[in-house]
Amino acid sequence: MKLGPCVTTAAYWLPLIWAATTAASPSLEKQQQPYSTWMADSTITRGVEATRWYTEATFYRGVEAAHNASGDARYLSFLTTQIDGILQRNGSFRAYDLTDHQLDNMRIGAAILYLYTAATEPSAKARYRVAADFLYDQLVHHQKRTASGGFWHKDRYPNQMWLDGLFMAGPFSAAYVALPGPPSNVTAAWDDIALQFDLTETHCRDGSSGMLRHGYDESLRAPWADKADGSGASPHVWIRAQGWYLMALADVLDWFPLQHAARPRLLGYLQTLARAVVRAQEAASGGWWLVMDGDSPGRKGNYIESSGTAMYVYGLLKAVRKGYHADAAEGAAFVAAARRAYALMTDRFVARNGTNGGINWEGTVRVGSLDTTGDFKYYTSIPIVENSLIGIGPFILASVEMEQLPSS
Ligand SMILES: *[C@@H]1O[C@H](CO)[C@@H](O)[C@H](O)[C@H]1NC(C)=O
Ligand SMILES: *[C@@H]1O[C@H](CO)[C@@H](O)[C@H](O)[C@H]1NC(C)=O
Ligand SMILES: *[C@@H]1O[C@H](CO)[C@@H](O)[C@H](O)[C@H]1NC(C)=O
Ligand SMILES: *[C@@H]1O[C@H](CO)[C@@H](O)[C@H](O)[C@H]1NC(C)=O
Repeated sequence: MKLGPCVTTAAYWLPLIWAATTAASPSLEKQQQPYSTWMADSTITRGVEATRWYTEATFYRGVEAAHNASGDARYLSFLTTQIDGILQRNGSFRAYDLTDHQLDNMRIGAAILYLYTAATEPSAKARYRVAADFLYDQLVHHQKRTASGGFWHKDRYPNQMWLDGLFMAGPFSAAYVALPGPPSNVTAAWDDIALQFDLTETHCRDGSSGMLRHGYDESLRAPWADKADGSGASPHVWIRAQGWYLMALADVLDWFPLQHAARPRLLGYLQTLARAVVRAQEAASGGWWLVMDGDSPGRKGNYIESSGTAMYVYGLLKAVRKGYHADAAEGAAFVAAARRAYALMTDRFVARNGTNGGINWEGTVRVGSLDTTGDFKYYTSIPIVENSLIGIGPFILASVEMEQLPSS
């Protein structure tokens, strides 16, 4: 018996190595490895489809962090196999719909740039570069914009900006603009990235709570758009939209130039939101409500949601690690809030019932869209799913931050 020559090496050996390292003896099942790699390994062992969709791409963000923190080359092999599965040899995407212009399509760009930076082989580097150039060109030349210059979330939702989109396109475009070389108008490119946050803040910020509503429609046409105050904002603060936004700020600041005029503004947005998130933490559990504004907390049907909770823990801990807090007392408050929430996650949302000693991730709401009424009843009617990559990626990010804390 021989293996066909067309079986690609990476696709063939990768699952075997994973099985060998994770199917440990029963006594090891109880031994706790770091949650970051435990969750990453459990998820990879279960199998992750090679797609360019933002759900997988959100998981890849977590794997990048696990790779960076552990230095374990298996994670880079995994990411390479996944990304090579969606690209042709020349760097073109195998499947890309040029017509729908969704910001969700941009998220994969950050994983491609991670590999571009890590790659040493010239042909691999060239391939990732072609793919990143293509995505950035799609974004700045083809994505439609509101009259004020905000990216539409997608063609189907004219003039709408959603908080989700800041995470989908922000870190990718920041990492791209920071590359040596393009684009020639670098200051304008950074201005453009900052503008996306500025518009979101202007329209979605809820003055009294400091939190941000899910999105806004600059044309005021969506049924949910707030016409009374002219903001066009949707009615509610939805945990995950605000989580995407907080992660976007925390990650974009990695790249945003220290001397650019907009940087203090972005830092201010991050601080205001981090403080608001800490104030909104639920006292009893240490987590955060699915619908967060007004009288929603505690309301029948509402619950503590896991993906958003993980995103806030990541955002708060990263903010402190990078020194984005105002002073030592504030840093300590952010870390204390994050620790309480992290304990909740490992207790309630990490289930130790995966195969071969693996873990599962519970409690993540499936989706949240403004293709709806955007009301409380809508958000709370969406099912909760197990092992959502949208929750797993942020949990890995939060874990990597926790594991780096002194004496954690
Ligand atoms: C992690 O990232 C930092 C900053 O980019 C880099 O200096 C470091 O070498 C990385 N570590 C590993 C193990 O890749
Ligand atoms: C890459 O190859 C594919 C398939 O051979 C082709 O359709 C595509 O146009 C090529 N892309 C570029 C940028 O040359
Ligand atoms: C930068 O300049 C190029 C060409 O001059 C233009 O096509 C592009 O839209 C500009 N990008 C930004 C973000 O201003
Ligand atoms: C694992 O346990 C949780 C409860 O802790 C449960 O909700 C979930 O369905 C279980 N998953 C599997 C795959 O058995």
